[in-house]
Order: sequence, then structure tokens, then C-alpha cells
Amino acid sequence: MQDFKVKDVSLAPKGSLQIEWASEHMPVLCQIKKRFAKEKPFKDLTLGACLHVTKETGVLVETLLAGGARITLCGSNPLSTQDEVAAALTEKGVKVFAWRGQTTEEYYWCVERAIGHKPVITLDDGADLVGAIHSKRTEALSNIIGGTEETTTGVLRLRAMEKTGTLKYAIIAVNDAYTKYLFDNRYGTGQSTIDGILRATNILLAGKNFVVCGYGWCGRGLAMRANGMGANVIVTEVNPLKALEAAMNGFRVMPIAEAATVGDIFVTTTGDISVIRKEHMQKMKDGAILANSGHFNVEINIKNLEELSASKRNIRPNLDEYKLGDGRRIYLLADGRLVNLASAEGHPAEVMDMSFANQALGVEYLAKSEKMSPKVYPVPKEIDETVARLKLEAMKIKIDQLTGEQRKYLATWEMGTT
Ligand SMILES: NC(=O)c1ccc[n+]([C@@H]2O[C@H](COP(=O)([O-])OP(=O)(O)OC[C@H]3O[C@@H](n4cnc5c(N)ncnc54)[C@H](O)[C@@H]3O)[C@@H](O)[C@H]2O)c1
Repeated sequence: MQDFKVKDVSLAPKGSLQIEWASEHMPVLCQIKKRFAKEKPFKDLTLGACLHVTKETGVLVETLLAGGARITLCGSNPLSTQDEVAAALTEKGVKVFAWRGQTTEEYYWCVERAIGHKPVITLDDGADLVGAIHSKRTEALSNIIGGTEETTTGVLRLRAMEKTGTLKYAIIAVNDAYTKYLFDNRYGTGQSTIDGILRATNILLAGKNFVVCGYGWCGRGLAMRANGMGANVIVTEVNPLKALEAAMNGFRVMPIAEAATVGDIFVTTTGDISVIRKEHMQKMKDGAILANSGHFNVEINIKNLEELSASKRNIRPNLDEYKLGDGRRIYLLADGRLVNLASAEGHPAEVMDMSFANQALGVEYLAKSEKMSPKVYPVPKEIDETVARLKLEAMKIKIDQLTGEQRKYLATWEMGTT
């Protein structure tokens, strides 16, 4: 009996080609895969993964399979699954429950399937899998030794669970590795968010007022890339340090209430709720474009947009026009979901190489450790440095080594002004 649910299994050959293309650009993960194939660190272990089902995730899944794992995979967003990749993974024996364009009910039905296969380790992106295990499916907890979390929003939710004593197993916060957020959140989100906006609209960015809400790792990357395309970048922030940094990086900084009146394109990257809401939409120019690249579809208050609108129509894939009562039009991309995954293909393989190397090594760390207490742990420094070293090697970049004199100098205090 088939134990998976995807859109169309006949897409598998297409998906295999996509995964092959991604793996060409993921040398670190491929190297880890070779080692896993020899050492089989996950022999007889069941892993439950809730990740964006993209071609890069396909390479991660192949890496874990090579290590001997059994895997159940569900998507971590109703709009981000690449159906051909989902199909290809079923042919490799992965129990995939994911397709693009799910309702919220279907999405959680798939999460439930991943839990039903009794994972010993979970891999999450946004903490929906961990959240479901801790609320509706607590019987699954007894089997689980630990998990990993891919993104900022997931880590925030898990830290909140840790704080209230709700978290019942150890989580490695992959997001917080340098080799993750410095590259994935910054360069990955920067490039792929622009890609998603362009695929949905094909507008010219040069000369446009491009409002970036949130100047964290994702926002920095996006502001940098939008600036490079000739847009006039405006940043909105709530954190004075980040706001100052944005200003010193040459961007205009102002409250969203002010930016709302001048922006042509607005992108939220905050991980926060209702960052763009009714009072801002009421001031926007005719033709303003709204997109979100934060994890959940709560950053733009879509309910507010619907309440203000007299009509709505779909213009092209991932582009909906809302006509307001006064005739102004506001355009929403990808239903306010992660625009880079829903309207483009997510991050390029080169950055996912490092993020998913951290995932793979994090899962290996959990599998080999004594059961850890239920806390959110950083990625061990050795893993982070290994990933950076392997990436540099793959890029054929050599660096210097400290001399004996330098090592001693850096570890002592006696020598001052000479
Ligand atoms: N699109 C993707 O593929 C992708 C990739 C990585 C992370 N993410 C998600 O993007 C979001 C941001 O991640 P990050 O790593 O940049 O987080 P971060 O914590 O580095 O940055 C978030 C920033 O938003 C600011 N902020 C919070 N509320 C705000 C508000 N109301 N108005 C303006 N600014 C506000 C914070 O002060 C902070 O500087 C998270 O939801 C994360 O999970 C998405």
C-alpha cells in the first residue's frame, strides 16, 4: 500500500533532475553524504522532517538516507512544496506528505502523518511539527530523543516553550549557526526574495521606493540586493541598534506609517505580526505592492486588506489585486506567504549547502549523544567551523594559520604598548 501523498508521482523524473542540479551546487552536503554512506550513523532510526520540500531539501533527504535513516517528510508551508521533488523522493522510499497549494487543514493533516510514523529525531522549519507533537500528539514524545530547527521564527517559538517549561526534548537551533544565518538569511533571502517579486510581477526595481520592514539578517540581505538593483530602499525597524545600522548603511529609516505614504513595494522580514495593517494600507499609493518574506503569513494583515477591499481578482500567478473602496489598488504577492518560496524556488543551493550541512551534522550529533535535557542548544562550534572549512575547501579558498607566536600573543595579557 502506498504510504505517501503527493500531487503527481509521474513528476518524479523531473524532480530527480532538479535534485541532481541542486546537488551539483552543494559540495559540503555531498561530502557529508559520502561519509554517512560509509558510517551509517542513522541505521534503523526514523526521522520526521517538516521542511520546505525543495530540490535542496531533496539533497538533504538523500544525505540522511545515505546514513541509513528512514524518513517521513511533510512541507513546512502550504505553498512552498515543489511537486516534482516531492514525487522524486517517494521513489527513494521517503514517506512524503506534501503538495503545493494546501489548505490549512491539509497542511496539518500532513504534519500529523509525519508524527504518526514515530520519529526518533525531528527536523523542523518554523516549529509546527514540534508544536503539534507538544499539543495534540503528546504520546509521540516518549519516542523522541531530540530535534533540529531551521529558522528564526521556529527558534523563537521553541525558546518560548523552553521558558515556560513546555519543551519536552532537546532542540539544536540550526538557525543560530554562523554558517546558517550569515549566508542563508542574508544572501539567500536577499536574492530569492527579489527573485520571487520579479517572477510574480516582472516590474523594474530601479527607481522604485522599496520598503524593507525589519533590518535583521533577512532584511539586511534584502535591502542590500534591492539597493543593488537601483531601488531607493527605506527601512522600518523597532530596534534602535538595527535602525541605526540601517541608517549608517545609507538607507532611509522611518516609521511604517510614514513609509506607507511613499513606498511602491513593501516587503516584511520581521517574524512579527501585523507589521503592515489597516492604517498603513489606507495611506498607500495606488498600485502599491505588498510581499512577505518572514516565516508566517501574519506580517501583512490580510484580513485588514480584505476588509478595505471592494473586490479582488487574480492578475497572474502569485499576484492578486485588491481594489479598495476609493478605487486605489493594492497588490499582494503569494497570499502573503514566503514570497521567495511560493513565487520562486527559495534560496539558491549554494547557501542551503551550509544550512543543511548544519542540519545533517546536527541530526548526527543528536543521534550519537546521550539523551540531552529539554533545552534549545546552539549548534556546537565544531560543527559550525567544520561547515565553514568544508565550504572554503569546496570554493578552493585557502586561509592563513596562526603562528605559534601569534597563538601565544592572543592568549596572554603581558605585552602591551611597545
Ligand atoms: N524567506 C526565507 O526563506 C527566510 C529565511 C530565513 C528566515 N526567514 C524568516 O524571516 C523572519 C526574519 O528572520 P531574521 O533572521 O531576519 O530575524 P532577525 O531577528 O534577525 O530580524 C528581525 C528584525 O525585525 C525587526 N522587527 C520586529 N518587529 C518589527 C516591526 N513591527 N517593525 C519593524 N521591524 C520589526 C526586529 O527588530 C529585527 O531586527 C523570520 O520569520 C524567519 O523565520 C525567512
